[in-house]
Amino acid sequence: MQGFVYQSAPSRVVFGAGVLAQLPDEVMRLGARRALVLTTPERRGLGERVARLLGERAAGVYAQAVMHVPIDVARAAREEATRLGADCYVAVGGGSTIGLGKAIALESAQPIIAVPTTYAGSEVTPIYGLTEGRLKKTGRDARVLPRTVLYDPELTLTLPVDISAASGMNAMAHAVEALYAQDANPVISLMAEESIRALAQALPDVVRHPDNITARGQALYGAWLAGVCLGHVGMALHHKICHTLGGTFNLPHAQAHAVMLPHTAHYNHAAAPLALQRVARALGGEQASDAGPLLHRLNQTLGIPAGLSAIGMPEAGLEEAATLACANPYDNPAPVERAPILALLERAWRGEAPA
Ligand SMILES: NC(=O)c1ccc[n+]([C@@H]2O[C@H](COP(=O)([O-])OP(=O)(O)OC[C@H]3O[C@@H](n4cnc5c(N)ncnc54)[C@H](O)[C@@H]3O)[C@@H](O)[C@H]2O)c1
Repeated sequence: MQGFVYQSAPSRVVFGAGVLAQLPDEVMRLGARRALVLTTPERRGLGERVARLLGERAAGVYAQAVMHVPIDVARAAREEATRLGADCYVAVGGGSTIGLGKAIALESAQPIIAVPTTYAGSEVTPIYGLTEGRLKKTGRDARVLPRTVLYDPELTLTLPVDISAASGMNAMAHAVEALYAQDANPVISLMAEESIRALAQALPDVVRHPDNITARGQALYGAWLAGVCLGHVGMALHHKICHTLGGTFNLPHAQAHAVMLPHTAHYNHAAAPLALQRVARALGGEQASDAGPLLHRLNQTLGIPAGLSAIGMPEAGLEEAATLACANPYDNPAPVERAPILALLERAWRGEAPA
């Protein structure tokens, strides 16, 4: 066996239907007294429900989280948190809400309790992102890792089917790239394979029966494992392309991941055959070259939009996207070269199967 380094990131995870009720105890456990509840404008109702649950330990509800954490939104949130005297943040929502919590924690170093309601996985990573102008910058800092995560599948029942499917494939992308990460290690690879298997099993059920709490729980379990993968090992070409598509072209994050994943997995199958074979096996296939086509078929089963064209990517932007994806590339098993990356983006734009 090859040598490796494994360092676990210390968050406390409480998992199960109904665990939201334990939130007040978890706030007390951190020794906090004034928790500011963060969420998106659409989920203000849930934020207020959480604040009521917290009672006198709630500092207020800040329902201004938006995708990709624009720097102005982060600054306004930090000012509001200071004005309200918050000493802890309860981020209840998807990656956008948790991202806002991280932007505040990055400066205040105050603890975050994350209550994820999508499958994005941000709640178990020390990675933060901030968007200034058209460029999204990401970084790692231990201060932004939520101290406690409450995974309550009941909170995902309202996640619309199309967002559930895309968000689940966003999670799967973390697990796929973990298997061929330059700093991959056997523990995270086990989690990655189990994550792919759990998500591939659960997501079609979630799409068919969105109120099936067992399938929702299984999907959230797969998403947790995928988030752990994202937080522990480096990501590659797929994540680089998706950051470009989100930050520069403002494409919806989860959908961009879902559309791109079959293509980026296929791009790497010859350079990382053992990793892609594990992906294929978790999806019911055998060979590394099965992984991309099986991911493409799963996308079709889940009703994921067929191509980048269907989620708002202008055809005229493909050249710029290819250039940006090749600038300061992340480590990747297959060489990251402009011509094949442009060809890959064009196929993804048209919604074709990976080739
Ligand atoms: N830093 C990290 O480690 C990391 C990891 C993954 C994603 N991200 C970031 O997270 C963002 C994307 O997060 P996301 O895909 O979770 O989307 P999101 O948080 O933007 O949520 C998408 C939409 O779904 C709504 N929503 C969320 N949960 C819901 C529920 N249970 N029921 C009904 N509606 C619900 C939200 O209000 C929002 O309108 C991106 O900015 C991405 O870069 C960061």
